[in-house]
Amino acid sequence: MKIQTACVHAGHQPEEATGAVTVPIHATSTFAYRRFGEHRGWEYSRTGNPTRAALERAVAELEGGVDGIAFASGLAAIDAITDLLEPGDHMVAADNLYGGTYRLFTSITKRHGIDVTFVSATDPEAYATACTDRTRLVFVETPTNPLMQLVDLSAVTEIAHRHGALMVVDNTFLTPILQRPLEFGADLVVHSTTKYLNGHSDGVGGMIVARDTDLGERLHTVQNNAGAILGPFDAYLVLRGVKTLAIRMAVHESNGRSLAGYLAADKRVARVHYPGLASHPQHALARAQQSGFGGMIAFDIGSLDRARAFCDAVEVFTLAESLGGVESLVCHPATMTHASVPAEERERLGIGDDMIRLSVGIEDAGDLEADLSRGLDAAGRV
Ligand SMILES: Cc1ncc(COP(=O)(O)O)c(C=O)c1O
Repeated sequence: MKIQTACVHAGHQPEEATGAVTVPIHATSTFAYRRFGEHRGWEYSRTGNPTRAALERAVAELEGGVDGIAFASGLAAIDAITDLLEPGDHMVAADNLYGGTYRLFTSITKRHGIDVTFVSATDPEAYATACTDRTRLVFVETPTNPLMQLVDLSAVTEIAHRHGALMVVDNTFLTPILQRPLEFGADLVVHSTTKYLNGHSDGVGGMIVARDTDLGERLHTVQNNAGAILGPFDAYLVLRGVKTLAIRMAVHESNGRSLAGYLAADKRVARVHYPGLASHPQHALARAQQSGFGGMIAFDIGSLDRARAFCDAVEVFTLAESLGGVESLVCHPATMTHASVPAEERERLGIGDDMIRLSVGIEDAGDLEADLSRGLDAAGRV
């Protein structure tokens, strides 16, 4: 099956009992036993729920993995991965991550006795240097949020495995339509399903896909024992979103390319961060490991005041955190998504107070361009 077909059909078939072509929302906490000692395959919805299971199978299939494990949020999924580690273990993480992931690793993960070393996301040698004989996990996002830097998946996976560590990739930005980390040898892929997989900004959720059954089982144990599960209504919404993932990603991609080109040609924009631009320092790597560039763009506009004027002037782009929905969003990372990253660290990474991040939706490209023009005009008057 091509991935477009898999988006529509993966993980489920018309329901046996009724023929329903969509997966029913199994809004039940518990399941009746047939008789003493004999259940029907389902016992209690924290442990397993048919709607959630259909979603888990669907996303696992799209990513090319063997098992999916769905959680209450992207961060709950990432936290569950760190639960595979023991106190005293070490992990290496890319230094440019979603701010909440950085906050998780530097607070709860650290408090649980796991040492985390952050390294330059783009430099494979830095991962190799940071690995020790205690390193059990390497965690990256690519493209990174919000700098749109790329991690060389083949090189870093090889380094992780050489040190006996699990390679984990947050694939939220590109989705399996545009990038499939398991094909580069990664062990686990993680998603905030809140974003493109759901695609309609109407639910928070997270998902892990495992490349082998042992990892899958260990993560289902964490899911059941700690209990941060995705509920059946939210699972249904993500499953419904996944059906249109391929066509949505195609429009996010074409709008993203078009707007990145528009911004790059405008003298009022200091710098555009988009791997699809030939000027992006890792454009060749993007072409090699991705099958598209997606709809996320960051750009630097010169000053905080100009960024504020831009954000307040746009009308089609909504000023809000999050990304990956059908509607275009604009965000100011320094005061919003990455406010939890200390200011000195943001400065060191290059997340300036003048940086703006766009999640380009599926509206008409001309309308979106006109909106950017409105924002740039307002910023130019500052
Ligand atoms: C790349 C990435 N990973 C993980 C998360 C966390 O996901 P959630 O907000 O669903 O917990 C986010 C949220 O913005 C994200 O952008």
